[in-house]
Formats: sequence, C-alpha cells, structure tokens
Amino acid sequence: MLKIIAGLVCFLIILFSPVGYNIITGRTYYVPMLKVPQGDCVESTVYMRKRHMEVLERWRNAYVRDGIKRYISINGIYRIGLTGTCLKCHSNKAEFCDRCHDYGGIKPKCWDCHHIPEVKAEK
Ligand code: HEC
Ligand code: HEC
Ligand code: HEC
Repeated sequence: MLKIIAGLVCFLIILFSPVGYNIITGRTYYVPMLKVPQGDCVESTVYMRKRHMEVLERWRNAYVRDGIKRYISINGIYRIGLTGTCLKCHSNKAEFCDRCHDYGGIKPKCWDCHHIPEVKAEK
C-alpha cells in the first residue's frame, strides 16, 4: 500500500514539475524563448512545434509539383509560401526560427534561395 502511495506521489511530482509538463506537452522541443505572434498558426502550435518541417515539405511539393497555391486547415485558408506566409507572421526569423535551430544545431538550407524579410525596428 505504502509503495503504491509513494509511486503515486512520485508520478504527481513528475506530472507537475516543469520537466514532466514539458514532456507531456511536447515542450521539450521548445527550450529557447521565442517571439510568437498573436493568434493561430496554420496548424496547432503543438503540431507545428514538432511537424513544421513536414508542413513546409508538403507546401513545397504541392506548390512546385502540383501548382497548388492554397493550403486549407482547420485554422483557415493560407497562401502557400515560406517567405510570404510563414515569415509574414513570424517576421523575425532570427528570434523565432533561428532561436530553435541554433539551439539544436539545425541549419535548413532554404535561405540560399528564399528571401528573409528585413526586420522592422521595434517600437
Ligand atoms: C535551390 C534553391 C531553393 C532552395 C535551397 C529551397 N527552395 Fe523552396 N523554392 C525554390 C523555388 C525556385 C521555388 C518556386 C518559387 C516560385 O515559383 O515562385 C520554391 C518554392 C517553395 C515553396 C512554395 C512557394 C513559396 O513562395 O514559398 C515552399 C513552401 C518552399 N519552396 C520551401 C522550401 C524549404 C522549406 C526549403 C528548405 C528546406 C527550400 N524551399 C529550399 C527554390 C529553393
Ligand atoms: C497567421 C500567422 C501565422 C502563420 C502564417 C504561420 N504561423 Fe507559425 N505560429 C503562429 C502563432 C500565433 C504561433 C504561436 C501560437 C501559440 O502561442 O500558441 C505559431 C507557432 C509556430 C510554431 C511553434 C512555436 C512554439 O511555440 O514551439 C512553429 C514551429 C511555427 N509556428 C512555424 C511556422 C511555419 C513553418 C509556418 C509556415 C508553414 C508558420 N508557422 C505560419 C502564427 C503563424
Ligand atoms: C520550436 C522550435 C523550432 C522553431 C520555432 C522552428 N523550428 Fe524548424 N526545426 C526545429 C527542429 C527541432 C528541427 C529538426 C527536426 C527533426 O529533424 O526532426 C527543425 C527542422 C526544420 C526544417 C527541416 C530542416 C532540415 O534540414 O531537414 C525546416 C525547413 C525548418 N525547421 C523550418 C523552420 C522555419 C522556416 C521556422 C520559422 C518560421 C522554424 N523552422 C521554426 C525546431 C524549430
């Protein structure tokens, strides 16, 4: 009986500790501080956190191979575009995309060709 209670207490401690919370919500991907805009992403945040590369790949294939220009999700209808759409909302690449990628040592080779918008001075 005591063992069960001890086990349960441990479980609850893990569940409510930041680490447990991070594991459960997928926030282990999300260590750096990120600048996020208001509103919704093209898919849920949790999905995007883990799967944005797949979304981008699908976008590219749809656009380049099939000439599809729009993406419809539960959150709305979006024009397919890396610079034009993703970076329209996430306008500060350095403080968003790069923060995570630098942390993970990931260097997507998209920016040789795709334009990085200038960051407007902040008020
Ligand atoms: C060698 C150059 C090159 C590289 C590298 C490259 N792309 Fe592209 N990409 C293009 C070109 C060219 C198009 C077609 C643009 C058009 O027709 O307007 C395109 C189109 C796209 C589109 C759809 C249209 C748009 O405006 O965004 C997406 C999404 C995209 N690429 C994602 C990516 C991602 C993600 C990466 C990195 C993993 C990447 N691309 C790397 C050249 C490149
Ligand atoms: C209409 C504006 C908008 C567009 C377009 C958009 N995003 Fe987002 N994105 C957001 C918002 C707002 C959040 C944060 C939502 C929140 O805090 O729950 C977010 C969250 C994210 C996250 C997760 C960040 C985290 O907290 O872990 C990633 C990754 C991401 N977006 C990548 C992308 C990529 C890649 C694209 C293009 C395919 C894109 N976004 C297009 C608004 C947008
Ligand atoms: C929450 C952290 C986070 C944010 C924010 C984020 N990324 Fe990523 N991204 C990652 C991780 C982690 C990977 C590697 C995932 C893997 O390989 O499983 C990755 C991989 C990628 C890849 C595939 C790279 C490759 O070489 O295969 C692309 C493309 C990409 N991200 C684009 C973006 C863009 C564009 C943004 C900003 C709009 C962005 N990411 C924001 C964490 C993030």
